[in-house]
Amino acid sequence: MREVFRRIYGASPEGIWAAPGRVNLIGEHTDYNDGFALPIALTQNTLVAARKRQDGRLRLHSAQGDGPVIDLHVDRLTPGAVTTWGAYPAGVVWALREAGHRFGGADLHIDSTVPTGAGLSSSAALECAVAFAYNDLYGLGLSPSALALIGQRAENGFAGVPCGAMDQLASACCTAGAALHLDIRAGTHQQVPFDPGAQGMSLLVVDTRVKHDLGDGAYAALRAGCERAARLLGLTALRDLTPADLPRATRALPAHLVPLVRHVVTENARVTEAVSLLRAGHLAALGPILTDGHASLRDDFRISCAESDLVVSTALAHGALGARMTGGGFGGSVIVLAEEARVEVIGAAVIAAFPAAGYQAPYLFPVSPAEGARRIA
Ligand code: GLA
Repeated sequence: MREVFRRIYGASPEGIWAAPGRVNLIGEHTDYNDGFALPIALTQNTLVAARKRQDGRLRLHSAQGDGPVIDLHVDRLTPGAVTTWGAYPAGVVWALREAGHRFGGADLHIDSTVPTGAGLSSSAALECAVAFAYNDLYGLGLSPSALALIGQRAENGFAGVPCGAMDQLASACCTAGAALHLDIRAGTHQQVPFDPGAQGMSLLVVDTRVKHDLGDGAYAALRAGCERAARLLGLTALRDLTPADLPRATRALPAHLVPLVRHVVTENARVTEAVSLLRAGHLAALGPILTDGHASLRDDFRISCAESDLVVSTALAHGALGARMTGGGFGGSVIVLAEEARVEVIGAAVIAAFPAAGYQAPYLFPVSPAEGARRIA
């Protein structure tokens, strides 16, 4: 990383920062409804090597982008001006400015092992790595969660994706060996011990290789539907409903909004139940909650796809404890919770099922909760 940085910019970086991708255990499409989520950080990280500049220039280079250095100026960043991957790092610097911080330019070199378009939050990892780097380079004194919200602001206001805050909070605030219980409305989070390996279990990620893209309007439409339902019910957000309120909400809403509300309300309840089970040490009991969450995303929110459904059904048919699509939907990844002894059989069955159905080979890897964003050098 240092060598490449020196080659590109002709000087050594002042430091290197890392921020991980994430998978969400449960609590999907709840963040922008002021609700709950339970993500873990992956061991795959985005790294940023960085050095301050006194002339206000912001230069960006990515090992994955393999294009030329993007040359910008911190005082002249406007939403829409950068349309490539550079919108994420540039957006972070723009969002820091918008929040009133004062600082100079920087040279940044970025390298990442977080798969892109796989629903594993490669963009949040990039935003958080850059936010942490800038925070340290210029002594801004922002907390990990404040930096996560800067990342979300970058994505909403600069890259034009109306995401919630879960991905950035996961990347910034997760710790090794724990899932992050997020309460978005309260702005709080708690670490909940999550260690499948210690209980003879394993969590598998299956990247279906169906590229998901949150910028294509479907995500925005779902968010708008949820917000409209809340308005019609006279609520600040769907977080304000419990499962007991569903019959009344169902009568009060136009039919097409009912399944959206049902998903969000039951999903929030699933997060609460999952946290209680984990705290009580009943990790295996998470399985049915994951599978119920998948059914809710497939049938009510309608954001699964044939490939994700195939992973879930194949895994369950081969003895998985539970499985669900994770992330924004429309492709991306599936998580599978299984006893260690079943993982090989399940993995082989999933790998065999894909070509049999005419799909390209999926990419499987085991995960255990890793640490969040930090300076590494
Ligand atoms: C994407 C968004 C998140 C969240 C999830 C769905 O990952 O970036 O804010 O809404 O989808 O839970």
